[in-house]
Amino acid sequence: MTAKIYVTRKLPEQIISKLQISYEVRMWAKENVPVPREVLKKEISMADGLLCLITESIDEDLLQIAENLKVISNMAVGYNNIDVEAASKRGIRVTNTPGVLTETTADLTFALLMATARRVVESSNYLREGKWDTWSPMLLTGQDIYGATIGIVGLGRIGEAVAKRAKGFDMNILYYNRSRKPHAEKELGIRYTELNELLKVSDFICIMTPYTPETVNLIGKEQLQLMKKTAIVINTARGGIVNETALYEALKDGQIWGAGLDVFTEEPVDLDHPLLSLANVVALPHIGSASIKTRMKMANLAADNLLEALAGNTPSCLVNGPQLDTYRK
Ligand code: DGY
Repeated sequence: MTAKIYVTRKLPEQIISKLQISYEVRMWAKENVPVPREVLKKEISMADGLLCLITESIDEDLLQIAENLKVISNMAVGYNNIDVEAASKRGIRVTNTPGVLTETTADLTFALLMATARRVVESSNYLREGKWDTWSPMLLTGQDIYGATIGIVGLGRIGEAVAKRAKGFDMNILYYNRSRKPHAEKELGIRYTELNELLKVSDFICIMTPYTPETVNLIGKEQLQLMKKTAIVINTARGGIVNETALYEALKDGQIWGAGLDVFTEEPVDLDHPLLSLANVVALPHIGSASIKTRMKMANLAADNLLEALAGNTPSCLVNGPQLDTYRK
């Protein structure tokens, strides 16, 4: 019998055709609507391979009915939407799409940093709302980027790519990471500091760490209190790493200066969310990796990972290799 693949969102034809060469492919054919849970439950119970997005929570509840499932291929580098432990204990391989989105996400991180510091969105709205009466000395003044101190929290691939961009702006670059990265310190001229020290001295605090039980609320009230009054927090990683209630209070009370957020604890963020009421917040709809080329590369890599696993090979982007004693065939 031909093995079955389920794809949880409409993907370009060329990706689907590649999967169809050897497998029966079913797909949730809508582009901007996530697959309903009930539909996913039914489909996963029949599938040998799943190609999913960060919008699907692949948890114990789903995996217990996924009796034939051999691989979960996430079209993202982050895989906090998947219960990897539950998958591993069933011998299901989990893959992600690292590398291909590094530069694009670093570009967006820097764009967001600059937009927040120089009040780009607020200034554009000011003009469009007809408020621009005259050039005036202190109108819409922001913070300097060139020569400022940037603190990168989580120096993975994307963190390093952000550091490279910061170097071009002659920034003083600090980082905090679980382990030190001597090669990056040497190549990029960056300096390791403990988290609290980084928070105290940085003008820009960029959150670039994966979302794990250890990083939930990594930046809360206490950490925000350490920051400069002129500090700007940039988060292009995952919403839950920064406590949103504490962030709102800090921004509202002028305890820090601004925030650029591409990610939220609940996505899509509610339009009534207090953070969206603040002019010193630049908010984006999780578009870090959203360039045409990069999204195509991510879709291709996710498809390749899936095909490799179904062919019985070890996929190049396997995230649970060490946790698998044996895998489902
Ligand atoms: C990821 O890959 O984890 C992003 O958040 C989506 O591109």
